[in-house]
Parts: sequence; structure tokens; C-alpha cells
Amino acid sequence: MADETALHDFPSLFSLKGKVVVVTGGSRGLGLNAASAFLQAGASTVFITSRKAKACESAVAQLNALPNLSPGARAISAPADSSTMEGIASLVAQVKKHTAHVDILFANAGATWGEAFDSHPDGAFAKVMDLNVRAVFNTIREFAPLLQARARLEDPSRVLITASVAGLGIGTLGKQATFGYSASKAAVLHLGRNLAVELGPRHITVNSICPGFFPTKMSSGLLEMSGGLDKHARGNPMRRLGQPEDIAGVVVYLSSRAGSHVNGAAIEIDGGSLWARGGLLDAGEEDKAKL
Ligand SMILES: NC(=O)c1ccc[n+]([C@@H]2O[C@H](COP(=O)([O-])OP(=O)(O)OC[C@H]3O[C@@H](n4cnc5c(N)ncnc54)[C@H](OP(=O)(O)O)[C@@H]3O)[C@@H](O)[C@H]2O)c1
Repeated sequence: MADETALHDFPSLFSLKGKVVVVTGGSRGLGLNAASAFLQAGASTVFITSRKAKACESAVAQLNALPNLSPGARAISAPADSSTMEGIASLVAQVKKHTAHVDILFANAGATWGEAFDSHPDGAFAKVMDLNVRAVFNTIREFAPLLQARARLEDPSRVLITASVAGLGIGTLGKQATFGYSASKAAVLHLGRNLAVELGPRHITVNSICPGFFPTKMSSGLLEMSGGLDKHARGNPMRRLGQPEDIAGVVVYLSSRAGSHVNGAAIEIDGGSLWARGGLLDAGEEDKAKL
């Protein structure tokens, strides 16, 4: 009988040694958190892309100054607008100047819009759907040849999509309602499931992450207008908001050998807030004292 305690090369199970990664929306926020994690888990090259060249360069400088990078590991700036086909083509061309393959694509760039139902603008709805859904599809399709180049049964390439718990439950309602955003995140989650089945036979997994509230440039306005960070932290079952390590752990897991048979999944990173709605909306006095 086989030795059921034998796990092949356990020390490398979560390693991303030598992997080539592209992170859209990588210049700040969750994308930059993830880029740091990819590099610190052993990736050899991480391409950082967003619209603003200066922001990409500054993120790359920060990443390349990390003290614990593998020898030769580097972040590279590749500014591009993911919402246009020209932008995506430019991104692919910039990446191809350095590599003939990509192991991990983190389709993370996204936008939101908050406005009441009666005045929720068509233009904003369209812009959010465009970047959060159509651009994700186009980016994955245009990167497919590079992702396939080294993908193998035993070591599939990975696509990660940043969705949101707003795509699983109801988004923000009221004055700052996020109808387009919530619908876009539900749509991109289902796109991920479709692509998981389509691309699985090409040895590419497709999974989504569903963050709850993380304090970033995108969420800070909404957090402030809806009662502030502390109120949201108190309303979370884990009594805090998300932090960079919460993103880091999940993206490294999904990108590593440990996650190689996870396909079509959507992983919530929200402290359980999705399931607390209507129940645990705020901490009681006893809990507040512990915060
Ligand atoms: N923070 C949260 O609480 C939270 C919760 C759930 C889901 N998410 C999702 O997480 C992802 C990242 O959000 P974040 O909170 O980190 O926001 P963020 O700090 O505002 O970062 C957004 C990133 O996307 C880039 N970007 C925006 N439009 C782009 C475009 N057209 N082409 C290329 N890059 C573009 C931005 O850079 P440029 O301005 O230079 O283009 C920036 O790097 C989004 O998909 C968001 O929906 C966030």
C-alpha cells in the first residue's frame, strides 16, 4: 500500500520559484499587495501594469527594493489602459519584449461608481462593466498564447480574477449605490467559471477572489461615507477589515502547486462578512470593549 503520509516535495508546495507574472491594476492597492507576495514567494518577473506610467514606475521601484527577493528577481513597469483593445495589445507587446511565456495572470484592474438609483448614470454603468468584465475577458484572451506556452498537466498556468463579495451578495445601496459594480462583479465571477472549463484542457486554471472591504484608494471614499473604517471593522465577524497579507495568502495559494487542482472557484476574503448581513451588523458593547 502506498505511503499516505508521503507528500511530494512539501517544502516547495507554496513556492512560486521562477514564475513569470502579470498584474493588472498593479500600481497600488490589492494589485500591489499581490505583486509583493508573488515576488516574495519566489517569482522571477512581475509585470506591473496600470494606466499611469509614473505610478507603475514608483510601484516597481518599491517592489525591487524589497529585501528578500530571489537572486535576479525583478518587477517591470508596463503601463497600459486595460479598458481598450489597443491598451491590451500594447501590454502584451511590452511583456513579449522580455519573455515568451507567462505563468500567472492576475486580472485585477477594476473601477467602481457610487450613485443613487434614480440618478445612476448610464455612462458610469457602462464604464464599470467595460473595465470589470469586458476588459478582463479581452485580457485573458490576448494573454492565452503566452499562458499556454509553458502550461503543463502537472504545472498548469493560472489566471486569477479580482471579483468582490459585492458580486455574491448585494452591493452598496442608497445614496452611494454600486449597481453597475455589483452586477459587474457577479458577471465576472461567472465569466471565470466559464473560462475555467474552457481553458482547463489547455492546462490553465481560472479562479476568482472575492475581497470584502480593504482600505484602498477605491474603497476609502465609500468607507468614509458609510460610517468609517471602525464601524465597518466592528460589523465584521472577525472585527477587522482586510489587510495585505489576506490577499497575499490567497493569491500565492491559488498560483502555487498547492492550488493546481482548484479551478472555477471563487474564494471570499472578507472575514465572513457576506454571511453576517442582517445578523451581525455591529458589535455589542461587550465586543467593542475588546476591539
Ligand atoms: N478595496 C476593496 O475593498 C475591494 C473590495 C472588493 C474588490 N476589490 C477589487 O479589487 C481590485 C483592485 O481594487 P483596489 O481596491 O486595489 O483599487 P485601487 O487602489 O483604486 O487600484 C486600482 C488599480 O487599477 C488601475 N486601473 C484603473 N483603471 C485601469 C485601466 N483602465 N487600465 C489599467 N489599470 C487600471 C489603477 O491604476 P491607474 O489609475 O494608474 O490606471 C490601480 O492600479 C478591483 O477590481 C476592485 O473592484 C476591491
